[in-house]
Amino acid sequence: MLSIPIKEFLSWKKKQLSKGGDQQAFAVLIDCICGISTSDLNSLSINSEGNLYLNKNLDFLESVWDDHLFKSHPIQYICEIAFWRNLKLKVTNKVLIPRPETELIVDIVFKIFGKKSQKLFFAELGTGSGAISIALALENPLWDGIATDIDEDVLKIAAENYTNSSKQSNLKFCCGDWWSPLESFKGKFDLAISNPPYIPKDTYERLPKEVKNFEPKIALLGGEDGLKHIREIIQKAPSFLKEKGWLILENHFDQGEKVKKLLLKNKFTSIETVNDFSGIGRFTIGRYK
Ligand SMILES: C[S@@+](CC[C@H](N)C(=O)[O-])C[C@H]1O[C@@H](n2cnc3c(N)ncnc32)[C@H](O)[C@@H]1O
Repeated sequence: MLSIPIKEFLSWKKKQLSKGGDQQAFAVLIDCICGISTSDLNSLSINSEGNLYLNKNLDFLESVWDDHLFKSHPIQYICEIAFWRNLKLKVTNKVLIPRPETELIVDIVFKIFGKKSQKLFFAELGTGSGAISIALALENPLWDGIATDIDEDVLKIAAENYTNSSKQSNLKFCCGDWWSPLESFKGKFDLAISNPPYIPKDTYERLPKEVKNFEPKIALLGGEDGLKHIREIIQKAPSFLKEKGWLILENHFDQGEKVKKLLLKNKFTSIETVNDFSGIGRFTIGRYK
């Protein structure tokens, strides 16, 4: 262990952040490499007397930070960790880094069903790191869920994240193309959620380097108009949802109206666009009849 004065560490931190990057990414770096939690890191500036104990020297930390800044390498992939709601999740470059705006999906579900409501059966299509399903299953031990993904390796990481965050057994994982692994649960779901790949092809080509060069294409690209997967999920949803079951989708910032029309065409009711924290119509929800 190396011991350095907190004041020296804080001035080094200031220098690193002045080169670019954000506080959140910096906090991920310090947590994963030094084991110093974000709250402990934040409290250093309140009480800056004394020493800090680090298991890596500042030169090493700086080299990792520079790799993140100058090669646009997402810090979550370098550290293989993402923080999402109150979860600490493993992510590799096979898995989309769960986004802060997606956290709202969980709140939308709780707004519709209430927290800790009685039994409920949900499906999440395209679970990635497992973030959404794990958050729902952990908060509601009476709920049962199935999380799917097309990529077996991705699903292994989601399952690992679930085991690492819980001793519960109310979430299962199934591999396959959208609804196909759920054939035996037709008409059984109270709720289905998906944050599918929805980026239109021309937008995908222009994504920032840190996304396009590092995150899995299969998790982002939604075909020519971005709606390829959303269309398929909506069209097949009526066979899998119970009557009055809900479908909650994340979509691209400008797809809300189109997604609403698709839901209407497929006999959904109570259709609504829900804004994210930036006021963008990020989610579209509807109820099957
Ligand atoms: C935008 S990511 C969402 C990941 C995670 N749910 C989240 O919100 O962070 C989309 C996910 O859908 C999966 N996926 C892509 N095509 C699929 C398909 N045809 N069937 C099932 N899953 C698919 C990808 O592997 C990826 O994990």
